[in-house]
Amino acid sequence: DKVPLLFQPITIKNLTLANRVVVAPMCQYSSKDGIMGDYHLVHLGRFALGGAGLILIEATAVEARGRISPDDTGIWSDAHIPGTKRVVDFVHGHGSKIGIQLNHAGRKSSVPGYYRKSEPSELWLDEVVGPTGNLRWDDKHFVPRELSLDEISEVIKAFGAAARRAEQAGVDTVEIHAAHGYLLHQFLSPVTNKRTDKYGGSLENRARMLLETIAEVRANFPAEKPIFVRISASDNVEHLEGPSWDIEQTVQVAKWIRDAGVDVLHVSSAGNTADQKIAYAPGYQVPYAERVKKEVPGLLVIAVGVITNGRQAEAILQEDKADMVAVARAFLRYPNLVYNFAKELSVIPRYLAQCNMFLARSGL
Ligand code: FNR
Repeated sequence: DKVPLLFQPITIKNLTLANRVVVAPMCQYSSKDGIMGDYHLVHLGRFALGGAGLILIEATAVEARGRISPDDTGIWSDAHIPGTKRVVDFVHGHGSKIGIQLNHAGRKSSVPGYYRKSEPSELWLDEVVGPTGNLRWDDKHFVPRELSLDEISEVIKAFGAAARRAEQAGVDTVEIHAAHGYLLHQFLSPVTNKRTDKYGGSLENRARMLLETIAEVRANFPAEKPIFVRISASDNVEHLEGPSWDIEQTVQVAKWIRDAGVDVLHVSSAGNTADQKIAYAPGYQVPYAERVKKEVPGLLVIAVGVITNGRQAEAILQEDKADMVAVARAFLRYPNLVYNFAKELSVIPRYLAQCNMFLARSGL
């Protein structure tokens, strides 16, 4: 029998994944001072036992002030390396690969907590920064201060230093977060970037921050290891007047990203403005991934968004709409989701951990 594409290995530079199912990054708001602990070991470790090809660690802050909330994971200091390495080593010990998503939340930082209500003293309202001052997400967010040119250089350097620490922790890849309305997306979109210097205005100028960040990360991460970027393909504000971020600009920037040495583009959407309108449906973001895959040869593409079934995932690959699929919520529901996908496609990968092999042998 032919092995389904979903269960065929894929090699990206020196990284070989056992299958094409990726655990999408998911903030857990369960860190103290940015350090990964037992929670992260168990939360991420179970996806390794579940046979995921690649696990992406949640949006992890490259600067303390770039955390979404005080409970985010961080990699802004060497003190973060051991906790991260412990998770990475466990995942490697069970046959999965692991990357870390590097983030700066920009104007969406310093949120008073999603699950635990942060004390006002834990927040850093004076250090909420963005491309443009005075433009806030909504009245639950602080008003950002505009980054100076020197500060932009410092943030870019922080991404590079974070990549170097991630390498010391042993990760297989880093994913630069330029999606969901965080700082790099804020620079890309004319909705959030009103600058008149070399970082604002034309598409080339709005993409400059991202491209300089990629160059800095590339210089600080081993050349033989791949780099991923996550992007929102659209601000999803077509119902509004005025310029915004869309798939046309995404395709152009994807070409620049590829030429800058990025190996994989993880194609999501939205998150940049409270005015967005999103039509959630199974595979709703796949058409964006497909556009990039068709128009930017040489760049591998991950599709994500309400992919919950093995046959659905396999069809996306068979129809050449993406090279890999990523899943978030269905992995929370079923940490052994890869086993479900395998059953739906009538394959039993031999590398599955004991917990799944018992199921396979008993036909459940
Ligand atoms: C997310 N998502 C997300 N995205 C991202 O790029 N970085 C992150 O840290 C997070 N955090 C996060 C936490 C939780 C609890 C959820 C449910 C989601 C978005 C996620 O990666 C994914 O793109 C969406 O959830 C859509 O995929 P699913 O859930 O439909 O498979």
